[in-house]
Amino acid sequence: MQYPPIIRDFPRLLHGGDYNPEQWRHLKDQIWPRDMALAKAAGINTLTVGIFSWALLEPREGEYDFSLLDEVMDMLAANGLKAVLATPSGAKPQWMAEKYPETLRVRADRTRELYGNRHNHCLTSPVYREKVRAINTALATRYRSHPALGLWHISNEYGGECHCPLCQQRFHEWLARRYGTVDNMNRAWWNTFWSHLYTSFDAVDSPSPIGESSNPALSLNWRRFTTDQFCDFYRWEIAPLKAITPDVPCTTNLMGTYTGIDYFRLGRELDVSSWDNYPPWTGDARDARTLMETAFKHDLMRGVGGQKPFMMMESSPSAVNWQPINRLRQPGVLMLQGLQAVAHGSDSVQYFQFRKGQGGSEKFHGAVIDHVGTHETRVFREVQEVGKRLDTLHTLTGSAPESDIAVVYDWENRWAIDQAAFGHNRNQRYEETVCAHYRALKGLGYDIDVIDQTCALDRYRVVVAPMTYLLRDRYAERVRAFVDAGGVYVGTYISGWVNEDDACWLGGWPGPLKDVFGLWDEETDALDADQHNHFTWQGKAYQIDDYAALIHPRGAETLAIYDENFYRGYPVLTRHAFGQGTAWYIAARTGEDFLRDLYANVLTRAGLTPLVSGLPTGVDCASRVGDQGRFLFLMNGNPHAVALHLPACRRADDDAPLSGDISLAPWETLVLRTE
Ligand code: GLA
Ligand code: ZN
Repeated sequence: MQYPPIIRDFPRLLHGGDYNPEQWRHLKDQIWPRDMALAKAAGINTLTVGIFSWALLEPREGEYDFSLLDEVMDMLAANGLKAVLATPSGAKPQWMAEKYPETLRVRADRTRELYGNRHNHCLTSPVYREKVRAINTALATRYRSHPALGLWHISNEYGGECHCPLCQQRFHEWLARRYGTVDNMNRAWWNTFWSHLYTSFDAVDSPSPIGESSNPALSLNWRRFTTDQFCDFYRWEIAPLKAITPDVPCTTNLMGTYTGIDYFRLGRELDVSSWDNYPPWTGDARDARTLMETAFKHDLMRGVGGQKPFMMMESSPSAVNWQPINRLRQPGVLMLQGLQAVAHGSDSVQYFQFRKGQGGSEKFHGAVIDHVGTHETRVFREVQEVGKRLDTLHTLTGSAPESDIAVVYDWENRWAIDQAAFGHNRNQRYEETVCAHYRALKGLGYDIDVIDQTCALDRYRVVVAPMTYLLRDRYAERVRAFVDAGGVYVGTYISGWVNEDDACWLGGWPGPLKDVFGLWDEETDALDADQHNHFTWQGKAYQIDDYAALIHPRGAETLAIYDENFYRGYPVLTRHAFGQGTAWYIAARTGEDFLRDLYANVLTRAGLTPLVSGLPTGVDCASRVGDQGRFLFLMNGNPHAVALHLPACRRADDDAPLSGDISLAPWETLVLRTE
């Protein structure tokens, strides 16, 4: 599928990053021209400006000063660079906090924060919203026809929550809209429990360590509300931009699996999804797993943007400064990190940051230009290499991965399952489990989409949905229709336990999906780290960890049984023909060895063939398809060389033919064109 370039009339892979020339205004005659020369030398075509500039843009209330930003925008344009121009709401000026304390956030313990840090504004405050509307309007008006303006970057890393009285009031209105009457809410939330019946919506306080901290339905709905607050704030921010610059796309930078916001909901508001990618590269054997976990996050971030090309908005060109131990990148890892984003559908490789600040808390965070200030650094040379490679590969722009397989990762389900008290108490390892299933599938050499329970299923052949504890409204009906029409659906233990309000399905698990799976799941055993069960499937023995469900087939075929414990002989793996399709049920948590063997079988039966077969572990294989054909990426996350067998293809960089047995060096990335 071919999509238009993210920045209109700029059909290139974007390469650049966060740039804060305003921090160097006292030295601008010296530093700025050097920055432009270095950007050119590094093959950089895009810089993100203005993210934290509010105090300079509006030094006193209502008094705007765009002189510095004018110069920056003109400088970018003069150097052929596109600006990703930010709205400044990520950090407010001090005068605003002083004059309008209502703009400061209130924490869950009901203390109002002092001025400081960033990402700290109340999401409801009419004053803050008005200030944001005014400055966004002024920015759009000023730069509407500026040749550098390419994209709007809304705020920065939306996150957190506010518990102030204004937000509480909004929450009450939100609850009233959702439930209509207090009785409905009390019933849905099971509030007779502990005598927690509310007499009005206004009496409901947001979850707090000094108040209600143990009502799961309240917590779940507070998170839904917070997501709505961010979606609403985003819409508020873009309203003036859309009115004044309707052709300039808008995004905000997301954070992978950050739990605070349902990104599938926020993603629907964005013209293009973008995210900040900081894998914990360790420079050793652990990088293989890091690579596959990063693959999952890229596919997730593409998913929240509706599977279109997305943007890697930030990544570190070298060590970050906030991990417990901040290692330097091994040679080749920067290329791997950048091209992996592209492989999974990113049309950009952006860094945080372009130039290191002289002061402030991020002065030791990796940057393209170090304090030495020249091109003579290892990191700069590696960035240059990435720039050259992206330039060679620019015809990839607008192409996208196409997948027959989807893995379901759902924020609402995550919220519910993370707080649920049972088994491994409040530690169900949902993200890790979804990621394990993803890695098993990915390791077999297929492109994978990551979707949530609200996304369309009918475009896929196989849908894998681990631990769908909470079934969102109408999801079960859609799964039923999908399998009935011939789809292959794989579910697991801890599925179909609760409904949208976190109340248990009556009549047995997996709730409304019992007949699709052809079974009834009665109870679930929790095993500690020293306890295991085992089973054999197709002549091979596997181990069970953490969870073992006791299920009763009601039409499903038993493919493997437990070896031990009082439930020895109960099914651990079943398959059920339903309509034209098939539903598999994995009753216990297994290692990735089993998942890989199972999915090899499931996918072959579904008639799917991998991009490349026999991939060594720690090799990410992904492809993009567009008007220019198919591009295949092979990425080695291992600190050692690996051997591969390729179909006939050509190297995308220089069109050299390549086939048969090849070797990938440590952290090497190969880009190929195939038929
Ligand atoms: C985040 C922020 C940036 C910067 C980087 C550092 O992604 O958006 O402003 O703080 O982290 O890694
Ligand atoms: Zn608030």
